[in-house]
Amino acid sequence: MIELRGVSKTVLSGGQPLTILHPLDLDVPDGQCLAIIGPSGSGKSTLLGLVAGLDSPSTGRITIAGHDITSLNEDALARLRGEKIGFVFQFFHLVPSLTAIENIQVPMEIAGRRDAAARAQALLDEVGLHDRGHHYPAQLSGGEQQRIAIARALANDPPLILADEPTGNLDSSNGRHILDLLLRVRRSRGVTLVVVTHDPSVAAVADARLVLRDGRPVAEETTAHGGLT
Ligand SMILES: Nc1ncnc2c1ncn2[C@@H]1O[C@H](COP(=O)(O)OP(=O)(O)O)[C@@H](O)[C@H]1O
Ligand SMILES: [Mg+2]
Repeated sequence: MIELRGVSKTVLSGGQPLTILHPLDLDVPDGQCLAIIGPSGSGKSTLLGLVAGLDSPSTGRITIAGHDITSLNEDALARLRGEKIGFVFQFFHLVPSLTAIENIQVPMEIAGRRDAAARAQALLDEVGLHDRGHHYPAQLSGGEQQRIAIARALANDPPLILADEPTGNLDSSNGRHILDLLLRVRRSRGVTLVVVTHDPSVAAVADARLVLRDGRPVAEETTAHGGLT
């Protein structure tokens, strides 16, 4: 699903080049759950942003679902993102002026789906918030907002879900529920899941882990109980 070859990122910091991600090779097979872990500032979000095509690498090639995203123009990249990738963020990033169900509908409307309203309701059911569709984000708890964000990420049935510290802004009980939901979705839909996390319980249930430190991988291992799909 994901293939990185020699991918690095160098930025200018105070006029000087600063390499925040050193050349990295990575393979994430279809259906795998990969946890990216490491201290704050180690390059986790940078790596996820590159995989998402939200930022372009300084060197190397990134292939997502068979498409070399480093060779796509902006339009083609936006289309690929809309079809293939769902995002979940630490701070939910829901649109505050839209209700929960409207937030879920947005990506489907952008994709021109006629059944957006019915599908949004089905997704609300899937994340356990059947009767909360008319609430605005500010009227929902953090855990509920993250459920809505997960439903939104699933709107166009992407084969790949990228989550950047999805439980990082939740207490441990709500974090656990969000993790369970992501893992359930991953199993029932067979999606590939990449989760950036500080949470040892997330890292423990992943099939594989990539540990970053100062923009370099320090360990990559596959857990004994990997391969749930
Ligand atoms: N555009 C940028 N310009 C300069 N430094 C950056 C930029 N983006 C990220 N960094 C730095 O790169 C490092 C890695 O950042 P990030 O990927 O956000 O780390 P993490 O998500 O692991 O906390 C940090 O030290 C951060 O300050
Ligand atoms: Mg980060």
